[in-house]
Amino acid sequence: MTYSTLPKKTITIDKWTLSDIDCLAIGAFSPLSGFMVEDDYLSVVETMRLANGAVWPLPITLGVDEELHGDILPGERVLLRGEDGVNYAILQVESCYRPDKNREAELVFRTTDVAHPGVKKLFEKGNLYVGGPLEVLQRPVPEQFAEYYLTPVQTREIFECNNWKTIVGFQTRNPVHRAHEYIQKAALEIVDGLFLNPLMGETKSDDVPATVRMKSYLALLESYYPPTRVLLAAFPAAMRYAGPREAVFHALVRKNYGCTHFIVGRDHAGVGNYYGTYDAQYIFAQFAPEELGISLLFFEHSFYCNACEGMATTKTCPHEGDQHLTLSGTKVREMLRNGVTPPPQFSRPEVAKILIEGMRERELKG
Ligand code: ADX
Repeated sequence: MTYSTLPKKTITIDKWTLSDIDCLAIGAFSPLSGFMVEDDYLSVVETMRLANGAVWPLPITLGVDEELHGDILPGERVLLRGEDGVNYAILQVESCYRPDKNREAELVFRTTDVAHPGVKKLFEKGNLYVGGPLEVLQRPVPEQFAEYYLTPVQTREIFECNNWKTIVGFQTRNPVHRAHEYIQKAALEIVDGLFLNPLMGETKSDDVPATVRMKSYLALLESYYPPTRVLLAAFPAAMRYAGPREAVFHALVRKNYGCTHFIVGRDHAGVGNYYGTYDAQYIFAQFAPEELGISLLFFEHSFYCNACEGMATTKTCPHEGDQHLTLSGTKVREMLRNGVTPPPQFSRPEVAKILIEGMRERELKG
């Protein structure tokens, strides 16, 4: 596209929005092909379905500052430019609307508390939503691990080449600890392949940075997983922390990448105490299996049991809680920050080493 054909009106987009644009561009958010128009937005917030009835649980919206962009009108084309000055996409504006953010927060996040990172982000967004299809000009170039940013077309091709008929998707925003490994491998016992698909977009500041996690996944896979049965690929999206609704979203997105199954464990996509431990599993009962198009594998809270001498859940272990090793995320972060390796029953030493180094580098950088 020549410079002269680019629209004059320009919206500067942050990294969060850019990660949404990238997911829309590659088809990870299919059937969406742009930011939601008002009808879809209202329908999604109220019913977890697009206006045409298809299941879709999270609003994917572009919120802009009304003072800066209040003159944008339906029918116009607007340039979406990154903070780095790169022109990433053109939005064909079909709808401009003012959302009821309290309602959105209440229904999507089940809270209006701005201490919730997803709610905070929602209220920081501009108060004017502009929706419509996107024409993508350029995909963002990842700073690291670019070879793992596969599109759904590519992952489906790989699954086919590997002759995997059944593939289980695993979402994660954390390092893979023993509990994650246990449920992944339990699933891998009954399907052909594991699609390890860590979320690489924006997360809250105390989550382990994506690049450090990526190093830890590679180390873990090298030592403990059969290479012919696992595909590691980055999921470019940002984390919403919307718990149950985000679990449905994560499942639908992994279906787009070609998965037939999806793992939902304890407090999937949760934060703090906003959601019940298994709310992200219960929510799936609201949909017919054929409208989801992906099978769910639900797992209970898993832990290492000293008496069983292995990983287990209350479904498989008869012992009391005092035999179970459970460490809170806060405790583990504190250990790692102090250079203390968590016990091997909690985390593989190869993973712990990388996390400790990552913490140290982060502190040196300030
Ligand atoms: S999430 O925000 O991406 O869900 P995390 O990376 O911790 O966070 O979890 C990835 C997946 O593993 C989710 O399905 C989550 O429910 C599951 N999970 C995490 N820890 C456990 C555990 N101890 N027992 C069972 N499932 C777990």
